[in-house]
Amino acid sequence: MNEHTKPQSISHQADELEEHMMHELERVVTKSTLHYLAEGKVEMDTSVGMWAKHPGAVFNMGPDPRLPKMPAKPTLIDYFRHRFASHAHLLQSATHALKAGHNEKVILACLLHDIGVVSFIRCDHGYWGAQMIEPYVDEEVSWAVRTHQALRFFPDEAAGYKYPDMYIKLFGDAYKPEPYIVAEYERARNHKWYMTSRLICVNDIYSFDPNAKVNLDDFVDIVGRNFRQPEEGLGLDDSPSAHMWRTMMWPNRFL
Ligand SMILES: [Fe+2]
Ligand SMILES: [Fe+2]
Repeated sequence: MNEHTKPQSISHQADELEEHMMHELERVVTKSTLHYLAEGKVEMDTSVGMWAKHPGAVFNMGPDPRLPKMPAKPTLIDYFRHRFASHAHLLQSATHALKAGHNEKVILACLLHDIGVVSFIRCDHGYWGAQMIEPYVDEEVSWAVRTHQALRFFPDEAAGYKYPDMYIKLFGDAYKPEPYIVAEYERARNHKWYMTSRLICVNDIYSFDPNAKVNLDDFVDIVGRNFRQPEEGLGLDDSPSAHMWRTMMWPNRFL
């Protein structure tokens, strides 16, 4: 029996474990420029700056141990459970669409319409959300998610959508959508899928009912039939938006 095949003694194993844990603790977590920008600062974490504070440290290149653990092959439902800061609004909108008897594309669009906000970023959430899901859903669904960003600012009373009172409360009564939003609305108005996006607005619930009974389990089958879950795990595949899911999974990998 040579040195390599000899079973390790308990104390040797304990030393190795301790060393491993020390390295884990030394993995320094850094923030991206976007985090600082959102705090009103134009700055970034640099390796030199971080080493001044943590001499000899190595940087986190994987999961952040402070965040809920993701499975080896994550699904959309895992992101709902472990990365989306809130899903009550999405479930309420999708439940509303389900009860109104809409088709599964509309229900899925309602379920996913604000994933940009709850998982990633507020600004231009319709565009971000659409880009995240585009490789995995019917084109009509991602189109509707993208354009709800613009349509929600324009009433269509014939379709049952008034300008939301909540928006006056949120943005003030002087807010006017920017020209790119107006142009998006005008393009969408005559599009063959206009009503799919409009139905997102109609089913968008602006008053959150804390007593509404909603359950993610009610939508697992609809997601299964309409969202092409990659075999490798969502974010570990090679789709054009896989990196966005990976970033959500590992938000502070150094690179
Ligand atoms: Fe939205
Ligand atoms: Fe919404």
